[in-house]
This record gives sequence, C-alpha cells and structure tokens, in this order.
Amino acid sequence: MSNLLPNLEAYWMPYSGNRYFKKNPRMYKEASGMFYTTSTDQQVLDGASGLWCCNTGHCHPKIVEAVQKQAETLDYATAFQLGHPTIFEMADKLVNMAPDGMTHVFFSNSGSEAVDTALKIALAYHRARGEGHRTRLIGREKGYHGVGFGGISVGGMSPNRKMFGALLPAVDHLKHTHNLEHNAFSVGQPEWGGHLADELSDILALHDPSTVAAVILEPIAGSAGVLIPPVGYLDRIRKICDEHGILLIMDEVITGFGRTGASFGTKRFGVQPDLMTIAKGLTNGAVPMSAVGTTGTIYDALMEGPPGMIELFHGYTYSAHPLACAAALATLELYENERLFDRAAELAPYWEDAVHSLKDGKNVIDIRNIGLVAGIELAPRDGATAARGYDCFVRCFEEGLMIRQSGDTAALAPPLIIEKTEIDRIIEILRNVINGLD
Ligand SMILES: Cc1ncc(COP(=O)(O)O)c(C=O)c1O
Repeated sequence: MSNLLPNLEAYWMPYSGNRYFKKNPRMYKEASGMFYTTSTDQQVLDGASGLWCCNTGHCHPKIVEAVQKQAETLDYATAFQLGHPTIFEMADKLVNMAPDGMTHVFFSNSGSEAVDTALKIALAYHRARGEGHRTRLIGREKGYHGVGFGGISVGGMSPNRKMFGALLPAVDHLKHTHNLEHNAFSVGQPEWGGHLADELSDILALHDPSTVAAVILEPIAGSAGVLIPPVGYLDRIRKICDEHGILLIMDEVITGFGRTGASFGTKRFGVQPDLMTIAKGLTNGAVPMSAVGTTGTIYDALMEGPPGMIELFHGYTYSAHPLACAAALATLELYENERLFDRAAELAPYWEDAVHSLKDGKNVIDIRNIGLVAGIELAPRDGATAARGYDCFVRCFEEGLMIRQSGDTAALAPPLIIEKTEIDRIIEILRNVINGLD
C-alpha cells in the first residue's frame, strides 16, 4: 500500500472526531499477531484486541484460510427457511462453550443487533406464555448496549442518548456501581457494593414486578471504563429476578471468549443468564457476527403454532452469513485447541501485578482489573472531562501502543496470545505517557 493518503472527506467516521482526525489521520495498513502496522510503517502493539474483538491476535492463518475457503465455496445463503451445514456445526460448538443452560443461539451481525434481538425475545417470551403485560426493561447507568434504539434506551451513557429523542418507553435504570471512595485500586472484584443490587427491589416496587420483562446488564461495564462487578452484586440481581419471574439478560459482547479468564463473564462470576448477547470475539473480529444465547425454556415457549409457520418474526439478511460462520467456527476451534481461555487465566496474576504497578503514576486515581482486562483512570482536567484520556490515547499510539480511551480511563484488553514481555512493554509505554501528560 502506498503511504499517500486518499481523499478523506467522504467517509463519515463512527464514534470519531471527524474534523480533527482528517487533519491528523492515523491509519493502519496491516496487522499480524499482536501488532498493527501503520501507513507510515510504524509497529503498534495492540493493547485493545482491536475493539475487544481479536482475542487470538490478528490475521490468524486458520481464520484467514477458513474465510477464504468459504468465500470460494458458498458466498451467501439466506438463513430464512434455508440453511448450510457450517452454521449448525458452529451453533452446536458455541452452545457447548456457553454457560450451562444456554441451549440455543440466534444469529445477528453486531452487538447492537444482538441486544435488540435479546430484548425482543424477552418481550415475545412473556407474551407467548400469557404475560404480555411484562413490557418494562431495566438497564443500568453507565451501561453500554450498542447503538440501536433498544440498546441506547436500556444503556446508561448520556452522550449516546441525548441526541436521539425519547427512546423506548417503559425503561428504568439501576444506579451504577462505580465508587472511588470505597473501591479505588481494588485488585480484582471490589469488596464494597454488592448491596447496590438491592435497588432493583425498589425499582420493582415502584413499577410492580409483574410489569417487568427483563433486566439487562454487562458483567463488566466496558465502555464506561471497565467497571468490575462488586462481590455478590450479580448474584443478588439474579436472585431478585428469580423471585419475580424476570429474565436476566447478560450482555457478554466484550466479556465473552476468555476475556475474564473464563469462557464467559457469567461463568467467571458464577451467575446464570436467561439470555446472553455475544459478538466481537465470536469471529475474532474477522467478519461481523453476533448471537443471542437462550435457555431451552425460552426457546420452547416460542416454538408454537402449526408446523412451517414462522415462530419468531425476526432476523437479518446477513444472519448466519456463511463467511461469518466460517470465521466463527475456526475461531472457536482455536480457542479450544490453543487453550486460550486457560492461557488468559494463567496470565491474569502477572497482568494484575503489572497494571497495578502504575498506581503511583501522575494523576492516576484508580486501577481496575480482572482476567486480561484493565482500566486505568486518570483525574479529569478542570472543566475538560476526557481531554486527558484522549491525550493519553494519542500519545500511546505515537509511542507504539493502542489502548481504548473511555472518558479519562485507558481501557486495556489485549489479545489472549500476549506474552509477558509484551505486557511489560504496555506498562512501560503507559507509564511514560501518563507521567508525561499535563
Ligand atoms: C457490552 C456491549 N454491548 C453491545 C455492544 C455493541 O456492539 P456493536 O458495536 O458490535 O454493535 C458493545 C460494543 O462495544 C458492547 O461493549
């Protein structure tokens, strides 16, 4: 690829400062294993798995080969009333890898679509069993569930909501669990905050539990800056949902596939979902694909009507796209064959010590970690929230490290193939950058 840049104007970049970027572009041209190569041939260590996707590293030959082979065999097939073998094989493998009780999977193309699908399935399930009055959905402040109307309605990040009107009706939110006073620099799960789950009982008392269809939560709130659930919090949410016949949807879009040192966050934290959303690491980011896992109870409740009739009026042109299925099957095999979830668990203590060694860094006000994920929160500049976080992201990139910026938090989630020397390098770059920022 030439180092000369094309005209940058036409492309409206997502979640980006378009005008600033186009004056100061940062471009990748290749990726392999733990590294990106920029258009100016700089190597950039990937501390974020792309965007929490590339858990096996970039351009893994097995995934590349699977996608190439699929592209020349069966490029596209509709998933409406028709199938192809790879999708059934892959769905079976995925269900076997998922937490116990997840018996069926529905496919879509992005985390946002998976979230909207899960919310719709929850509503349809209650209606199918004669409880159509359960229409309320409960999310959480600081939650991120993608950018569909369902996802931003149950999500709790105000910049994602404020421009887009009234959103879905009948949605309420739990308070978030982030609390520096009690939990700053917690190693692993914070001890304080399990009781915050009890607020769900108050919300249910206000609306009456019989009106509530589902609660949706991320096991770890990633986009809000890596917020680890306090000890006992998720169990209490599960218990309250069970007491009132409310479904618990766990959004595992970033916590799936080894990120927490277990196959899924729900396994790591020991909480059983009724529905789970999955994306990103499902195909290692190579081809867009997402999924909703459900229990047999939910699936069975919707399998009604005469044979041949469509049971759920929902699906996408690209649901179960053959290229995505091939990428996913190769990725799931890699997770198993290379024992990558165990590898993440084995590296986690080294990672934990490494990230917490940044505690004395300039303006560092919190460090959070679990598995192979961490958030390093910097104090905001006066009147300029997220400015220091953005400068941290840009300076890291210039020094050859890609992090994910979330407000003033540097979020880290490296591919599970990372070596200890590369962890050391991440920390060295971050330390220098953080200490050099005003
Ligand atoms: C927890 C969670 N849910 C949903 C999404 C949306 O996924 P997508 O960007 O693929 O629509 C994300 C994206 O980061 C996420 O972190």
